[in-house]
Amino acid sequence: MSVYLNGRFLPLADAKISVLDRGFVFGDGVYELVPVYSNKPFRLDEHLRRLQASLDGIRLANPHGIAEWRELVLQLIALQEFADQSLYIQVTRGTPVEGQPPRDHAFPQGVSPTVFMFAQPLVTATPEQKAAGVCAVTAVDNRWLRCNIKAISLLANILLRQQAVDADCAETVMLREGWLTEGAASNVFVVQDGVLLAPPPSNLILTGITYDVVLELAAAHGIPYAVRAISEAEVRAADELWMTSSTREIMAIVKLDGAAVGTGAPGPLAQRMDALYQNFKQQVMRA
Ligand code: PDD
Repeated sequence: MSVYLNGRFLPLADAKISVLDRGFVFGDGVYELVPVYSNKPFRLDEHLRRLQASLDGIRLANPHGIAEWRELVLQLIALQEFADQSLYIQVTRGTPVEGQPPRDHAFPQGVSPTVFMFAQPLVTATPEQKAAGVCAVTAVDNRWLRCNIKAISLLANILLRQQAVDADCAETVMLREGWLTEGAASNVFVVQDGVLLAPPPSNLILTGITYDVVLELAAAHGIPYAVRAISEAEVRAADELWMTSSTREIMAIVKLDGAAVGTGAPGPLAQRMDALYQNFKQQVMRA
């Protein structure tokens, strides 16, 4: 498997960084996850823009311009042996150099960021899995207040997701002070009386690229929607509940904390949106 590390494409086994890398020692870095269909990256510019926003958020200069990133991503895609890919991009604050303290919270000066990219096969849900939907649990969102940064320090998200795994579920739906934020690694939508509801972009959620596509599709196809704060009571009384992400696409949550969501099966709007999303994907990939 070929990966990219700091200017070179090389076999995974040869990709080595220092144990003092800020990513390893502090989780000091940001990332992106770009879905690739038939060797074509989906919404790459949007992902690269969000990467820029994350880098700005942690005060790390972007090591590449958009055109350079695009070129590197396309080269990495071409080196893979599978056509549908989940392409991971990570940028850390790099490794302190000779003469600098090996570990110091303050930013090291004059250090190059570490840029690492690799791809793994993208496995999206089968029609059977979509027809079944998934279960989720709720938890208090105990993450920091800068969740709009796609930070590699994911300890809170990992612990939260594990609560779902421990309950044989797919996702943890998070609530902060009685309001819906998002999933441990996804955005969450509610359907109420035929209206699609989405929590507003803020520092409390990572606004997904998939989230944006879903709202664009709703607007384009006359599906009523509102972007507004959603209470825990509304989540629990939802007709439909969805999780969305680059890897899960649109997935209906049919059971929450053991209770059926709506009828207990994926609702009509989830099915419609998934069809629109699949169609959109096909169109973009053919273009
Ligand atoms: N995560 N919110 C969080 C906390 C996420 O981790 C993700 C995605 C999303 C959805 O974003 P998008 O639609 O752009 O994938 C929302 C990716 C898939 C991951 O960490 O692997």
